Amino acid sequence: MMKTLKEQVIDNQLPRHVAIIMDGNGRWAKKKGNIRIFGHKNGVAAVRETTEAAAEIGIEYLTLYAFSTENWQRPRTEVDALMSLLIQSINNETSTLQKNDIQLQTIGDVASLPVNVQKKLNEVIEATKNNKRTVLTLALSYSSRWEITKAVKNIATQVKQNTLNIEDINEELIPTFLNTANLPDPELLIRTSGEQRLSNFLLYQLAYTELFFTPKLWPDFRKNDFYEAILAFQGRERRFGKISEQLKK
Ligand code: IPE
Ligand code: IPE
Ligand code: MG
Repeated sequence: MMKTLKEQVIDNQLPRHVAIIMDGNGRWAKKKGNIRIFGHKNGVAAVRETTEAAAEIGIEYLTLYAFSTENWQRPRTEVDALMSLLIQSINNETSTLQKNDIQLQTIGDVASLPVNVQKKLNEVIEATKNNKRTVLTLALSYSSRWEITKAVKNIATQVKQNTLNIEDINEELIPTFLNTANLPDPELLIRTSGEQRLSNFLLYQLAYTELFFTPKLWPDFRKNDFYEAILAFQGRERRFGKISEQLKK
């Protein structure tokens, strides 16, 4: 019998960290003759499916780009709807997180979110903090340039206060000043909706990440789409600047 996509996934060659740019909600709604917010509402099922799919095959870290710094510039009604939806879906999905042993955390300028969103997030972060299977990180009011700017300021401050030597600034130290300090770099980045750009997401962390673009719009993304991306990843040869023959040793 034909193996399912999930069965084809090679257990000992999993990416530890998968990051996703969830894109295409607005276009999905428009195609259905509906308003953009309808697309965002229908994106929640895709978040649930993806999170479960990741936990089921044992992905340690899943990071979802949910709201960018630039997204604040969208019409007020859309931003408000996204914030309400965030609270509502965190409420509804907490049981999914507990059932699948998933820990929630965030990256981004969380302090810029409405206070009730922050409160809800903190509640669930606290409630899931001992969960071990998968760490689900939501990027909220996140942008990579914001994150890097903050890191540079913090590094400069420490140098000025003589708690850090310039000689000690290196490629291992810099990531410890990023929001993702407790995460390994993603091995795989997925972006839905057919756009092929990073939109200010994890610029430092994605240096050697495999990129997977799919035309699927985010509300249509399901477990099998996730497994398909994992399988594509497992077919890639990651050379890190070396030549193929050097990898075989
Ligand atoms: C992604 O879908 C969700 C967010 C950025 C919040 P979009 O809202 O960007 O949908 P499109 O790209 O306009 O179709
Ligand atoms: C990127 O999507 C941000 C999120 C998915 C949260 P956008 O739809 O905002 O990206 P651009 O503006 O098309 O690049
Ligand atoms: Mg978009």
